[in-house]
Amino acid sequence: MRRALITGVTGQDGSYLAELLLAKGYEVHGVIRRASTFNTARIDHLYRDPHEDDSRLHLHYGDLTDGVRLVQLMRQIDPDEVYNLAAQSHVRVSFDEPEHTGNTTGLGSMRLLEAVRMSGVECRYYQASSSEMFGATPPPQDESTPFHPRSPYGVAKVYAYWATRNYREAYGLFAVNGILFNHESPRRGETFVTRKITRAVARIKAGLDEHVYLGNLDAVRDWGYAPEYAEGMWRMLQADAPDDYVLATGGAISVREFMESAFAHAGLDWEAHVRFDERYLRPSEVDALRGDPSKAERELGWKATVDASRLAEIMVDADVEALTHEGRPWIDRPDLPGWPGAR
Ligand code: NAP
Ligand code: GDD
Repeated sequence: MRRALITGVTGQDGSYLAELLLAKGYEVHGVIRRASTFNTARIDHLYRDPHEDDSRLHLHYGDLTDGVRLVQLMRQIDPDEVYNLAAQSHVRVSFDEPEHTGNTTGLGSMRLLEAVRMSGVECRYYQASSSEMFGATPPPQDESTPFHPRSPYGVAKVYAYWATRNYREAYGLFAVNGILFNHESPRRGETFVTRKITRAVARIKAGLDEHVYLGNLDAVRDWGYAPEYAEGMWRMLQADAPDDYVLATGGAISVREFMESAFAHAGLDWEAHVRFDERYLRPSEVDALRGDPSKAERELGWKATVDASRLAEIMVDADVEALTHEGRPWIDRPDLPGWPGAR
């Protein structure tokens, strides 16, 4: 049985990746942060009582700011594959907390790489790199596009990207960068723009809210469907040799167009409900991201199938359903859109 270690297992991508690896028969070890409230909602449906014989998901307290703990976890778990998904991942927040973002998103990745090296464990390593690294460089962006980050988050991701390449070159580690463009789902954090919009659509439709406040509607993004990207991460670690890959749909629309699709899908006129608040603007913006995923398609056989308009519909349906029925349909209801098997 292969063993995987996932940092950021409680996040959107971590939950889909854990599901995928468990379905493939892996033993999955997830690193979670101690919090004063429960932070495992996205993976609760995967967790079994550890006393049960068939429990293959194991959770460990840890933090990317605690290097000693990372070494200890590497030695204790002895994984075949390490997926580093943990990060302070919100771009706007990174302007408020640049030092914390650098410490977790940047230096945290270096700590984990060093823990891999110091432990002496033979494993493959995945780094969650980001299209945010391209920043101001115009689209289309691929693996050879120069980086020009526009946020403390983007700067930290560039550091982590080069740390990963350096450990590949210096120590022969099978270490890869997945340069992933925006990917969303019903499990997306509520303050990222797609989920903020689809959640608002559901609440406005239900009569709970009247307005939603947004920032820059002109930004363009290449939005894909998160479960498909988890599959791409796994494929990168199954390749014959370590390399870096862009995962993207190859298409892109503006925040305004995503918003129009989402409101229209619920039969609402967005202009009656959307208001501007400058607090959601960023000191420096990334105007346009559109990836060229042809290398991943050619070498990994990976291709996105859900475009941004379809994604808006999936997310609106899930948020409407969540308000209509009790529970968390995006977690507990495999028959609904948003569940990986329901693609
Ligand atoms: P997410 O939902 O924000 O999840 C981030 C995860 O990191 C959470 O599990 C969080 O734990 C954990 N974390 C944060 N700080 C930590 C620390 N100091 N130590 C240990 N764990 C920590 O992000 P996501 O959308 O799943 O993205 C996964 C990764 O891919 C991130 O590195 C992100 O930057 C990168 N990425 C995402 C996208 C995208 O469009 N989604 C695109 C490119 C790259 P809590 O649950 O306790 O907060
Ligand atoms: N969050 C947010 N909230 N964004 C808004 C809002 C708002 O109210 N109004 C407009 N936007 C615009 C932002 O200015 C940005 O141009 C765009 O919507 C997308 O913002 P986010 O959804 O916050 O995502 P992001 O592109 O900044 O970052 C995401 O994608 C990166 C990959 O390119 C995150 O998931 C990063 O972790 C990831 O690396």
